[in-house]
Amino acid sequence: MRDLQRAGARVRVVLTSAASELVRPALFEALSGERVGTGLWGDWGTAEPGGTGSEYARFPHLDFARGIDAVVVAPATANTLGKAVAGIADDLLTTTLAAVEPSRTPVLFVPTMNATMYDHPACRANRSTLRERGAFILTPDEGPLACGETGVGRWPGNAAILAALDRLVNGRGRLSGRRVVVTAGPTEAAIDPARVLTNRSSGKMGYALAGAAWREGAEVTLIHGPTRLEAPPFVRTVSVRTTAELSEVVAEALPGAAQLWMAAAPADFGPDRENPTKLKKDEWDGRLALERSEDVLARAVVERDASTVIVGFAVETDDVEAKAAEKLVSKGCDFLVVNDPTEAGAGFGHDTNRVFAIGADGSRRDFELMSKRSLAHELVDWVLDRREREAEVAS
Ligand code: CTP
Repeated sequence: MRDLQRAGARVRVVLTSAASELVRPALFEALSGERVGTGLWGDWGTAEPGGTGSEYARFPHLDFARGIDAVVVAPATANTLGKAVAGIADDLLTTTLAAVEPSRTPVLFVPTMNATMYDHPACRANRSTLRERGAFILTPDEGPLACGETGVGRWPGNAAILAALDRLVNGRGRLSGRRVVVTAGPTEAAIDPARVLTNRSSGKMGYALAGAAWREGAEVTLIHGPTRLEAPPFVRTVSVRTTAELSEVVAEALPGAAQLWMAAAPADFGPDRENPTKLKKDEWDGRLALERSEDVLARAVVERDASTVIVGFAVETDDVEAKAAEKLVSKGCDFLVVNDPTEAGAGFGHDTNRVFAIGADGSRRDFELMSKRSLAHELVDWVLDRREREAEVAS
């Protein structure tokens, strides 16, 4: 509830009688500042404490079911899933669920229970029936469970629930059913078993783009070099070290992809050979012979399907406009996102970025300084807008 509030949501809580045994309603009432629903027959009066004066106040289940953006049942017990499937409406929660139309209001269940219960044929069948009816069901995590057993049934974490809601409530599904490949972070070139050449890319922009594409409904593959970041939930991640590995994994992921976002900063140069043993400083003159590594983007541009949109990124620090225009042409990508890391708040390691983007179709857009997360959403939107515009012109 707290994380949802931090994300700007107004949260109203319904507790089943079992939940009220574990956590007192007063706690949720104090933290939410809203009346907590515990039963169908409570003293509902005519108005809520917040004073919204809902016309449904005398019908508690409708009061909770109307005027909402989503319902989250978390944790969802085997009992609640079973009742929801059967249409049983014998308490406030199940009556509220019965009063929600899942095609208009997203309903998200977060099953959390013992692994054997989760895997029980009845529970499995209930999940698939709910999915068929349009509800969304998060897959629990696997690991040690509250009961001491181990298996699938753990709480998947607040971040996963928030991400799922973000897609359900805020995403417009513009990439629904399509695959998007995003690369992020630096790559490394090994000098010897202990030393590497790398760069300052944090991976934040690429991770944000993976999240933004997922929110728009895409199935996302995030291919990343060494970073300290936590991958967005639901995104397939592949971790790589070297530029050559990155290139291979991108080539494998590319066929059939709708978009490739090359936000990674592959190491451009690496030692011509990795020394098999650690170089001793007294026996090494400190010189390295470097050779160019493969250009992943250039290979992708050649190998892609005609329908795959490729977005490159460029870091320029001088004569930015001219160099960006040149790079868009020389790289052969559809769009190029350009930033100057010497500008305050932009580029490597920051949570914010300021960029402009240019397209092979002659388009250009200057984005304001903003969080990488917001920027990722704007970039995904802009690229989709441009492609739609192009398709309209072509028809
Ligand atoms: N890129 C790549 N493979 C490389 C180097 C870069 O695919 N070996 C991609 C990056 O992911 C980015 C784009 O190329 O999308 C531009 O990278 P940038 O570093 O700006 O340009 P370079 O091609 O490295 O050129 P230069 O360093 O000379 O500016």
